[in-house]
Amino acid sequence: MRVAFELSLEHPTLPRADALAAIEAEGVAVRGVSFTPEILIVDAVRPPKRALERVALSRYVDRVLALGPWPSILRATARIDAHRETFRVRAHGPFTAEEKRVLERRVGAVIGRTGRVDLDAPEREFRLLRYGDGFLFGEVLYEVERSAMEARKVARRPFSMPISLHPKLARALVNLSRCPRGGRILDPFCGTGGIAIEAARLGMRAFASDLVEKMVRGTASVLDHYGLQAETFVADVGDVPRRIPNVDAIATDPPYGRAASTRGERIGSLYRRAFAAFRDLLPRGGFAAVVLPSEEAIRIGEEFLRLEEAHTLRVHRTLARTFCAFVRGSR
Ligand SMILES: C[S@@+](CC[C@H](N)C(=O)[O-])C[C@H]1O[C@@H](n2cnc3c(N)ncnc32)[C@H](O)[C@@H]1O
Repeated sequence: MRVAFELSLEHPTLPRADALAAIEAEGVAVRGVSFTPEILIVDAVRPPKRALERVALSRYVDRVLALGPWPSILRATARIDAHRETFRVRAHGPFTAEEKRVLERRVGAVIGRTGRVDLDAPEREFRLLRYGDGFLFGEVLYEVERSAMEARKVARRPFSMPISLHPKLARALVNLSRCPRGGRILDPFCGTGGIAIEAARLGMRAFASDLVEKMVRGTASVLDHYGLQAETFVADVGDVPRRIPNVDAIATDPPYGRAASTRGERIGSLYRRAFAAFRDLLPRGGFAAVVLPSEEAIRIGEEFLRLEEAHTLRVHRTLARTFCAFVRGSR
């Protein structure tokens, strides 16, 4: 089954990495992968339902019905039996409004032989996209809950601070950690709890700790507000391996310097202690997804774990944050 992720284009590589990591985390067997800057196509052996439900940085995930020049799209359209169900066709991509209307009408007219158009609440939704020089024709399998993630935005939670990660980035980080559903995941710099919230929502067993008691209490209250479960405790990152058993994965956003508090410790020393703890806590092959502020910080991570991928997001002129995935090797 070929599945197309309509990438959110918020970053050149992170949305694709988010989808691929979700697929890997759920153990989906994949025959092949291809992509354009806008769309990632994964040829999966079985329908990857659980992986689709965790992606953060895509808009829709579609079952691919046809891929190629316009005549092959029309031929595929003619094979669809809508079984009298209601449907909608949406063209999306670098088309003018007029081109979109024409494409939607032509495909809609063919499917309309066996189904009924409903633009507001259709039972089935078809997508027509640009793919390279041709088109992709697909049926929506999953619409990513972008508005729900927006609603969980920090400012609307009972406890929040400017340091909080946006829920969609927190979820992408959880995906980069490759933690499977039901797996044990740790955020030892939990701050306002955004990463633990997304992990718990995805059905993981979350552990969240922080050096500052107010943060831990805040995280516990936010989890409670959403009716989610996680184990929260106050700890310096270096003590976490003595406090909990091993975890399957780590997803975390450590202090990045000036604004964030380290209680006077130099940032390099804190990162060395943190990565040593991550190596102790992870099994071989386990991932730590970490947001880091500099190349220097990444090099420190590489003293302890192997860097698998890195995606840099520029926040403003002097602040860049790199979403890294490290893996514990056999050392
Ligand atoms: C950038 S913030 C985390 C933000 C978090 N991702 C969120 O969405 O709110 C870093 C956190 O690390 C905590 N911290 C600083 N030094 C620490 C240490 N040695 N051990 C554990 N936590 C520490 C700070 O209290 C702060 O809450």
